[in-house]
Amino acid sequence: MSYLDPKTVNRQWILNRRPQGAVVRTDFDYVEGTVPSVADGDVLVRSLYFGYDASQRIWLTEDGGYMKPIMPGEPMRCMGIGQVVESRNPDYQPGDLVEGFMSWQDYAIVRADGPMPLRHLPKADFPLSWNLGVFGVGGLTAFFGVTDGLKVKEGDTVVVSAATGATGGLACQIARLLGAKKVIGIAGGADKCRWVVENVGCDACVDYKDPTWTAKIAELAPDGVDAYFDNVGGDMLDEMFLLMAPQGRILICGAMSQGYTGVKVQGPTNYMRICTHQLTVQGILLFFYAAKIPQAAQQIGQWVMEGKLRVTENRHAGFEKAPDLLPTMFTGKDPGKLVLHVADPA
Ligand SMILES: NC(=O)c1ccc[n+]([C@@H]2O[C@H](COP(=O)([O-])OP(=O)(O)OC[C@H]3O[C@@H](n4cnc5c(N)ncnc54)[C@H](OP(=O)(O)O)[C@@H]3O)[C@@H](O)[C@H]2O)c1
Repeated sequence: MSYLDPKTVNRQWILNRRPQGAVVRTDFDYVEGTVPSVADGDVLVRSLYFGYDASQRIWLTEDGGYMKPIMPGEPMRCMGIGQVVESRNPDYQPGDLVEGFMSWQDYAIVRADGPMPLRHLPKADFPLSWNLGVFGVGGLTAFFGVTDGLKVKEGDTVVVSAATGATGGLACQIARLLGAKKVIGIAGGADKCRWVVENVGCDACVDYKDPTWTAKIAELAPDGVDAYFDNVGGDMLDEMFLLMAPQGRILICGAMSQGYTGVKVQGPTNYMRICTHQLTVQGILLFFYAAKIPQAAQQIGQWVMEGKLRVTENRHAGFEKAPDLLPTMFTGKDPGKLVLHVADPA
């Protein structure tokens, strides 16, 4: 059953055209629609929080990357937190708090199946929005990337790019928790580098806008880098091949430098280092870890409760801001997980 008034307005941000190059606010139109009706198996969810992920830009391309492309006329897809208002699926009841693929609208029919099924959120002492950050895509990818992808171990020298980001900031801290000897962050500008050292447990942070950044990493890691968590790709990844220790490991998590405007990206030219230094280069996509998410969330929760993982949110409020925030993912936003508060639970 639903508590909705049939005249309830459903605010939506609809894609009006495919972005050319960088995504801009005017790629979206504000419209007021109706609340969708619920068929067998459906779950109708009211949006509470929208999360921001760089991959949303890939979903806006004609190809869509690893997911179905968003079509002009459709509301913008995002990871979100919501509350079930009506359900014809026995696994979800009105009032349940859930996280999963949602969209920029007040009310949406949300798929309960798929590669990242709609997840029930447990009652917890931490803020609900953390389910998009430390317990969401960024935190979980950092966890699986550092523990399973890079297999960071005691004594390793680890480098993490985009270290102020939702994923990078947690990857730095998890590498430290696993006993890395040295953790070096990479970020853009002196203030951000200071933030990384003070907030995510890095021994040092190197400013990639400084033309001597590679020499600085070479100085900080005289025996080479054992594990590199790559969120940036492009020239940075190319240079990092030259800084790796023999038998080092590289995790390809993202390619922020490429803007995600298409499927073709700049590949590395120094890749023969994979051969000469017997490097391991591995990718990560959180979908492949879906079955292991509950276990990972438990470990992350324990670290958070013990004060071993510091959580940073870059939090905004107001449905009207949804399209303004997306471009900031690529233009040097403030540290932490970017989230938009849309409504409170009933
Ligand atoms: N494979 C997966 O399953 C998976 C899951 C989650 C995230 N990811 C990827 O992980 C990466 C980080 O995601 P996130 O959610 O942590 O994003 P985020 O919080 O927005 O952080 C991204 C950071 O990237 C940096 N950046 C942006 N453009 C850059 C450039 N041209 N060169 C160098 N750094 C740049 C910015 O830091 P500065 O201000 O320091 O420049 C920004 O803070 C993304 O590439 C994302 O696609 C992958």
